[in-house]
Amino acid sequence: MSSEKTNQSWGGRFSEPVDAFVARFTASVDFDKRLYRHDILGSQAHARMLTQAGVLSEAERDAIVAGLDEIRGEIEAGTFEWRVDLEDVHMNIEARLTERLGVVGKKLHTGRSRNDQVATDIRLWLRDEIDAILVELNRLQAGLLQLAETEADTIMPGFTHLQTAQPVTFGHHLLAWFEMLSRDHERLVDCRKRVNRMPLGSAALAGTTYPIQRQVTCELLGFEAIGGNSLDGVSDRDFAIEFCAAASLAMMHLSRFSEELVLWTSAQFQFIDLPDRFCTGSSIMPQKKNPDVPELVRGKTGRVFGALTGLLTLMKGQPLAYNKDNQEDKEPLFDAADTLRDSLRAFADMVPAIKPKREIMREAARRGFSTATDLADYLVRKGLPFRDCHEIVGHAVKYGVDSGKDLAEMSLEELRRFSDQIEQDVFAVLTLEGSVNARDHIGGTAPAQVRAAVQRGRELLARR
Ligand code: ARG
Repeated sequence: MSSEKTNQSWGGRFSEPVDAFVARFTASVDFDKRLYRHDILGSQAHARMLTQAGVLSEAERDAIVAGLDEIRGEIEAGTFEWRVDLEDVHMNIEARLTERLGVVGKKLHTGRSRNDQVATDIRLWLRDEIDAILVELNRLQAGLLQLAETEADTIMPGFTHLQTAQPVTFGHHLLAWFEMLSRDHERLVDCRKRVNRMPLGSAALAGTTYPIQRQVTCELLGFEAIGGNSLDGVSDRDFAIEFCAAASLAMMHLSRFSEELVLWTSAQFQFIDLPDRFCTGSSIMPQKKNPDVPELVRGKTGRVFGALTGLLTLMKGQPLAYNKDNQEDKEPLFDAADTLRDSLRAFADMVPAIKPKREIMREAARRGFSTATDLADYLVRKGLPFRDCHEIVGHAVKYGVDSGKDLAEMSLEELRRFSDQIEQDVFAVLTLEGSVNARDHIGGTAPAQVRAAVQRGRELLARR
């Protein structure tokens, strides 16, 4: 039986070689070669464990561990020849090991299967990716705190329905994003716990007849726990779906953030300036400076949502245990992780470079009757019921719209036409500073509260 004609790892029971197109169609090496480092780590831990279990000799273990180190070197030097006919990263590396070591190389796969091998590799890979993502997330959050502190007193209009609602401080607005990202951080850290459980030892599906010591590989690979069921271990990809769900929420937040940056850099708002290095121009309109980075992040959000939907659909209805369907888990997962990491990185670089145009923000807050609620609250303090105050202020705003005057621009006589409870002290509440300073409680927009929130945020980052 010529095993050259077909795959050397499983060719034994086949009487004709795999169709050339089918070989390409079923191969995953083009994308799963990305797992090579984690595949090698998993194999080295497995070989060490097999020696402790008395399955491999110490000399065999040492040859395998050293051989795999050299293969890693070849891959990183770009001299490794990836072969599609060897299907995936696992068989490419194993075949090369056997080429180098002869029969010892063939012993590595004792007591395991590609099914537990690939599940282990993805988890090891994703654990590292989450750690790298958390680094960028931290950097972005630190940048937000810095900017929020500098802009604690900067006044801008706050919006509901994208209509001017009440004045807020720019620092407060920035800290809203900080809060969202804190929850994203929590979710990723929590997801990492479930990623960090070891399927190795599940073998193909039922476990193995060798006296494997799963605690040994668990410790060598830094897993937090050993998967408790072999069928589950080789088949479920819920950890990857969970990561994509957390990544989708983080991207959803970044897309909202992006949208505001896009609006604010427009000629209509002009609230901020982004440095040229984060923007590009137009090949036809010389005046253009486009906020490409936030636009692209907003657009890339769709890829991550797509990965989540794709993986949910991939997993839905799969019977136990491993099915080839699961080979389709990698590309969406890789893409989601890359997209989130790159988007966070771009934002972490860009946020500290945001230049607020404080005068324009302030002027926008001054227009649009943003202190109308403050006038109503003032009348409540004079003893009127809130609903009546709401009506009184409504009339004053109507007068303001007709006469082109903001509330703070009206004279005391004009204001007293709407209520004789209004006195000279009203002007203090109609100022923008009066308005934001009055919201002086945890989570409120007062500059003092923004500074306190920045302090709490710094303590949170320091505890991570
Ligand atoms: N390339 C496969 C995957 O990504 C590895 C596991 C294949 N196992 C098998 N028995 N065909 O899922």
